[in-house]
Amino acid sequence: MGKFEQQPALPARFLDFYRQLLGENAEDEIHALLKGAGEKVVRTVFSLSDFSELERIVGEFQMTLPGSGEGQSRVIFEDAMAVSNELVSCLSRSTAFEQGKFYIQSFASYFVIRMLPIAGAEYVLDLCASPGGKALHCYDRMERKRPVIVNEPAGARRMRLTSVLRTYDARELPVLGIDGGLICQFLANEIPLIVLDAPCSGEAHILTQPQRRREWTPKQTMMLARRQLGLLSAAVHALKPGGLILYSTCALSPYENELLVGELLERTEGAVEPVRWPGEGEAELEKLGVNFRPLEQVKGQAIDPRIVECGWRFRPVDFGEPFFGILLTKKKSTMPKKPIEPYPVVYEKSRSKDRWRSIRVGPGRREFLAPVHWPELPGLPYLHLGR
Ligand SMILES: C[S@@+](CC[C@H](N)C(=O)[O-])C[C@H]1O[C@@H](n2cnc3c(N)ncnc32)[C@H](O)[C@@H]1O
Repeated sequence: MGKFEQQPALPARFLDFYRQLLGENAEDEIHALLKGAGEKVVRTVFSLSDFSELERIVGEFQMTLPGSGEGQSRVIFEDAMAVSNELVSCLSRSTAFEQGKFYIQSFASYFVIRMLPIAGAEYVLDLCASPGGKALHCYDRMERKRPVIVNEPAGARRMRLTSVLRTYDARELPVLGIDGGLICQFLANEIPLIVLDAPCSGEAHILTQPQRRREWTPKQTMMLARRQLGLLSAAVHALKPGGLILYSTCALSPYENELLVGELLERTEGAVEPVRWPGEGEAELEKLGVNFRPLEQVKGQAIDPRIVECGWRFRPVDFGEPFFGILLTKKKSTMPKKPIEPYPVVYEKSRSKDRWRSIRVGPGRREFLAPVHWPELPGLPYLHLGR
């Protein structure tokens, strides 16, 4: 009997399904997923804290743990520490956390934005932004000089996002609240960098919530994959030729990762290509001794070698949670299926000394004031922008 049959009420069909997809590794992956991540990453926030302050805060809370918190934290990068879950629960109740002095996230979520080639982008569009971890990290990486347009269609999750933006003193970011696919219909070949951290199966949540465990069927991942393909195809249309999309999920299911990107590559017939992560990312991951390569085959079907070479799959056996991330670029302009009227946005001239300039958005010419150093933003139905 495998170790899962001992877990209470883990649906056999769940295990069978993942065994077919992941082969002999499925049991270990799901077992690790049930155990969860042992650590999180805590990072500094641009202009609100620096690394010495982060070390001091972490050190103070660590001292309150049994054995003076020996081994509960370690420095992993110049702006980030890995901390144990015990320490995370102290830190997340602290005043420093309420003041936005640091952000807590998973290793993979931190790492993909750390390695994102963001330097050349005039601005970023985060299509699925709430609660805002990746958007804020992008904004911090641009030293808050260039904007991240954030979108979240679900009302309650958008409230969470705007509250996070308030806490981290990033209220000025442009906020949208509509379907990501619809946003992209207003934009043809225009956006330099898109973050598409798609709604996904998130098997970690399925396994920890009894009702979701009971109700799970294989259809869920297939349906989500259709939705993700719709969002990703729309994002490709909105992307500037030569621009980049970061496509990511926290799903274990290859239907939402390798297979989905494979389908996109087939459909777009050479217009889209995966690109290698630049920089030292892979060397860092090799130092950690983890396998970050995507699956090479699923149910006997070979995965496009470009996906295997360029994508990153973080495995529950290494990180306690799944994550998949891949960079895609666009080789040539795409034509919309149905041309759509551009959304009106008018910039008014500012005088040389002004710090803000007026933007009139939409048919009602609603006025917003945006920092004068921001680039001109695309015409979109912003709910909020600037101050
Ligand atoms: C994985 S979460 C994003 C996490 C976020 N990127 C972060 O790092 O904090 C996916 C989000 O996509 C939102 N979403 C669902 N359907 C969407 C759609 N059609 N267009 C845009 N966003 C959508 C969900 O409400 C959810 O908040």
